[in-house]
Amino acid sequence: MKGQIVLITGSSSGIGRETAYRFAKEGTMVVLTYYKGKTRGQMAERRCRKLGAADTLLLHLDVTDNKSIMDAATQVRRRYGQIDYLVNNAGTGTFIYFHKQSAREIERQIRTNLEGLIKVTRAFLPLVRKGIINVASIAGKEPYDDMTVYCGSKFGVRGFTQALALEHPRQQVCCVNPDQVATRLSGYLGRPPEDVAEVIFMVASGRVKCKQGGDVDVWKVIK
Ligand SMILES: NC(=O)c1ccc[n+]([C@@H]2O[C@H](COP(=O)([O-])OP(=O)(O)OC[C@H]3O[C@@H](n4cnc5c(N)ncnc54)[C@H](OP(=O)(O)O)[C@@H]3O)[C@@H](O)[C@H]2O)c1
Repeated sequence: MKGQIVLITGSSSGIGRETAYRFAKEGTMVVLTYYKGKTRGQMAERRCRKLGAADTLLLHLDVTDNKSIMDAATQVRRRYGQIDYLVNNAGTGTFIYFHKQSAREIERQIRTNLEGLIKVTRAFLPLVRKGIINVASIAGKEPYDDMTVYCGSKFGVRGFTQALALEHPRQQVCCVNPDQVATRLSGYLGRPPEDVAEVIFMVASGRVKCKQGGDVDVWKVIK
């Protein structure tokens, strides 16, 4: 992956940040994005440089905002012209029973995890040379009773990925599905985010094969 360019959305924390570090260690050029965590984003970018990233670019990106998405794509196009991999990682969740979820909580999850991922893909698609890796979830394959809306968004990500893969057979398009990972989203319970970063890296570098449009389940690769 040395010298290649990888953009990871939501790389100011958790899985996205560890993924940025994993690629940085290989001399990859890493484009990081933050939403509310500017300082965390800046720290992550500095660490990527220390770890050996050939180049870094830190962008503000709100995947629920059309202009923010277009601005980010414009900045990346001007700086690099193209990218090798897009890792759609930015996401959010509200884990309470469905009847307790407010309209705003429902909107936030669907607009970030599904609509945002789709729009980011649309904006960056002309720049992507090799592939798009979407971070879905075990909750996109199995139902959980306090994750109704989140499950809806992640099942949707897998459906979108499968259909996109049919339209774009020359680019690698697939999902990486984490189980529970110790990040802010899960209340820091679960496996280390480094495990997911490793699997994303293995998929991009060809060390783990993924059927076009298919799934790579983290718990099957790293026991
Ligand atoms: N943790 C788990 O157990 C688990 C399991 C399966 C799948 N996943 C998935 O893994 C991905 C990463 O989550 P995580 O666990 O690493 O959680 P996290 O630590 O909370 O990180 C979420 C990232 O998404 C960014 N983000 C949130 N809303 C955004 C928006 N509107 N626009 C752009 N970026 C936004 C955040 O940016 P700021 O911090 O800068 O605001 C942050 O960088 C998500 O798609 C999640 O659904 C997580």
